[in-house]
Amino acid sequence: MTREYRHVPVMLDEVLAELDPRPGEVVCDCTLGGAGHSVELARRVAPDGLSLGIDQDEMALEAASRRLASEVPGADVRLLRGNFGDLDDLLVEAEVPGVDCFLFDLGVSSPQLDIPERGFSYHEDAPLDMRMNSGNSTLTAAEVVNTYNEADLTRILRVYGDERFAARIARRIVECRAKAPVETTLQLVEVIKGAIPAAARRTGGHPARRTFQALRIEVNHELDVLDRGLRAAVRWANSGGRICVISYHSLEDRIVKHVFSELSQGCTCPPDLPVCVCGHVPIVEVRTRKPLVASREEVAANPRSRSALMRVAVKLDVTG
Ligand SMILES: C[S@@+](CC[C@H](N)C(=O)[O-])C[C@H]1O[C@@H](n2cnc3c(N)ncnc32)[C@H](O)[C@@H]1O
Repeated sequence: MTREYRHVPVMLDEVLAELDPRPGEVVCDCTLGGAGHSVELARRVAPDGLSLGIDQDEMALEAASRRLASEVPGADVRLLRGNFGDLDDLLVEAEVPGVDCFLFDLGVSSPQLDIPERGFSYHEDAPLDMRMNSGNSTLTAAEVVNTYNEADLTRILRVYGDERFAARIARRIVECRAKAPVETTLQLVEVIKGAIPAAARRTGGHPARRTFQALRIEVNHELDVLDRGLRAAVRWANSGGRICVISYHSLEDRIVKHVFSELSQGCTCPPDLPVCVCGHVPIVEVRTRKPLVASREEVAANPRSRSALMRVAVKLDVTG
């Protein structure tokens, strides 16, 4: 099925300024999506550089491949289907010795949200799926909703969704599924509405937004793979290589901040020890003490950029 794949790249100018891709370099877009960022990255490293694009979503890869071929025809582009949590394996497969620019633009793309049958949208009825790689993984949102116990559901909604009515929603899910499984997005929306007090339903956006976000993070193991992917990117970055991450959720941003800060630490031995025993050496320099955010103009033009938080690190020369 060929559908139009439209996603406006977020903080594109800032990405290009921070990554500063130069002719002949190797760039790796770990969240290719519709190639909104990759088209510009590929243009800047072409014709001698290499643009790698990774996505776990077949539909995104097809759309990006068409777009890159038509908009940057002379570029050397290699697209890889997979999860950036497996970045080590993907880069071995791509046979590159190292990478100069890494980009992670996390989460889902607009088309993934907009296509009802993917099950990400609380506006359209569809099976509760929410898998970004529907081909490979087996855990679906329906399975989470219908098999996790009440305590686990509460934890997921509270931690991944910041949902203050997590316990009430989890209780209601368990009550409803005892009568019949909750199988579609709109069935779940009704369950959530029934669990949230009427006054609260009228404020704070769509009542199902936080629950849907939490389920998506759980189904796709988004936080675990981010930690793994970032550490692998730091390992594969050439010295002077730049790593740029845009997250849309405070939990993701906390992971990025933690990984960058840990890898930028030098010796952590107590100052009274005569010699270093911890062996820690800084591997990256963090460029962004506080995350960069989208300009007011961009937020006005593209509301999705409102929650974007960008962090950047540069790989140090650790060859000794
Ligand atoms: C926000 S979109 C990227 C949009 C892209 N920067 C653009 O401007 O067109 C995120 C993309 O990353 C993919 N994605 C999310 N998590 C992933 C992961 N762990 N591994 C591989 N792809 C992932 C999604 O399938 C989606 O296509």
